Amino acid sequence: MTYVVVENCIKCKHMDCVEVCPVDCFYEGENFLVIHPDECIDCGVCEPECPAEAILPDTEDGIEKWLEINAKYSLEWPNITRQGVSPSDAAEWDGKPNKAELLSPNPGKGD
Ligand code: SF4
Ligand code: F3S
Repeated sequence: MTYVVVENCIKCKHMDCVEVCPVDCFYEGENFLVIHPDECIDCGVCEPECPAEAILPDTEDGIEKWLEINAKYSLEWPNITRQGVSPSDAAEWDGKPNKAELLSPNPGKGD
């Protein structure tokens, strides 16, 4: 089992989650973060830290697509362990529908 970053992280990218992960298993894209499913120890401490409520356990219904996205990009993007500066318009994107199509495949800067 693993926790999974889901759609509402896109363009919000608050990064509070990376500060609390005991195994540093977050990876950074341009406008989204992912969790490496084989590194996550399923501790659950990141879930309540996300202001956008964008982290869920993989037992949630309908989460398969996001689990695949987390698995794919955690192999391509750089590791991130320290909270960076979130987008200035993050609050405007919170809860917006259809953000999945805005997911950038480009890597972020990492630490
Ligand atoms: Fe890290 Fe725990 Fe969140 Fe997994 S559940 S990503 S180990 S903080
Ligand atoms: Fe994204 Fe929430 Fe982390 S918005 S970057 S999953 S704190």
